[in-house]
Amino acid sequence: METFVRPSVGTGAKTLDASWYTSAGVFAAERERVFGRSWLCAGRTEAVENAGDFFTTEQGGESLIVTRDAAGDVRAFYNVCRHRGTRLCERAAGRFVGSIQCPYHGWTYGLDGVLKVARNMAEVPGFDRGEYPLKEAAVAVWEGFIFVNHDRAASFERDFAPLIGRFARWTLGTLKTARTISYDLACNWKLIFLNYSECYHCPLVHPQLDKLSPSDSGRNDLAQGPFLGGYSELREPQMSLTTTGHSVRPPVGSVEGADLQRVYYYTIFPSLLLSLHPDYAMVHYLKPIAPNRTEIVCAWLFDPATMARPDFDPNDAVEFWDITNRQDWHVNELTQLGVSSRAYVPGPYSNAEGLLGAFDRYYRSVMGA
Ligand code: FES
Ligand SMILES: [Fe+2]
Repeated sequence: METFVRPSVGTGAKTLDASWYTSAGVFAAERERVFGRSWLCAGRTEAVENAGDFFTTEQGGESLIVTRDAAGDVRAFYNVCRHRGTRLCERAAGRFVGSIQCPYHGWTYGLDGVLKVARNMAEVPGFDRGEYPLKEAAVAVWEGFIFVNHDRAASFERDFAPLIGRFARWTLGTLKTARTISYDLACNWKLIFLNYSECYHCPLVHPQLDKLSPSDSGRNDLAQGPFLGGYSELREPQMSLTTTGHSVRPPVGSVEGADLQRVYYYTIFPSLLLSLHPDYAMVHYLKPIAPNRTEIVCAWLFDPATMARPDFDPNDAVEFWDITNRQDWHVNELTQLGVSSRAYVPGPYSNAEGLLGAFDRYYRSVMGA
């Protein structure tokens, strides 16, 4: 059983120097040291339910084709033809009919990445089709989420050991996406992680959230390393984070007891924020675009049996968090403006910001700083 403790911070912990949020050199180094080696969340398996279903996704600056092969395995191929390097697929999503064909000279690959057809190449001395499969990233599926890693040697079981099985009672793997909203933020991706990891700001920034969940009720069970978080309490049982404060939906999975009065929040370094409510899950997929720009897709996930009910309406959850998200994005963008100033120097974290010091420590260790 997990142990939850009140947030606290090591004495003297301060925010990072400005360059970590603003420098093109740091951003380039992150592409290698963070996004070149970590498990990055590319989406949900529901987007590639059948063999040949695919979507393209940019992860760590690389375009990947995520598809399901004939054996039923999810694969992530680099979107690069083995002939002359041309981008293979320009579509955001769709379905391959048995193969992936390059639009330039028609080299054709199976759903397993094997080069099946290369026109006129048989006459080329020494050419062997077997030597030219599509390059691929490592793939792991966890709780319905597809993770990719540019480091083929990485072990998901080892890296995700603290999370495997941890959220079983929400049956996340069975939930389906009812709604997504995309946001384009003028701030560094790390400011979004930091903001998500504290509720010191909640009374001022989120009056509607503060009414439902006391800002000082946070307790953490993961307080160091790549995964950080814990729960905050709802003021009363049977509440949820919705525009009414209540929900007509039954709990998801086997959520019961104390969990009916809690919302769990976890950061999954470096690409995912996971928010578990009694009756739904919300996830933020983050994608850094530039030192001062980050794209976020927020998704709301529900039990498919609940979604099938004629009265199903996710808007109470979607609207509540869309308002809350925009409040957060605004202060994150204000922080980006401030840390870009010559007047900025690192400032001290409060006792409610223990996870932020932990995030900074882990991030710096990954960056070799
Ligand atoms: S570049 Fe793809 S077939 Fe020529
Ligand atoms: Fe917030």
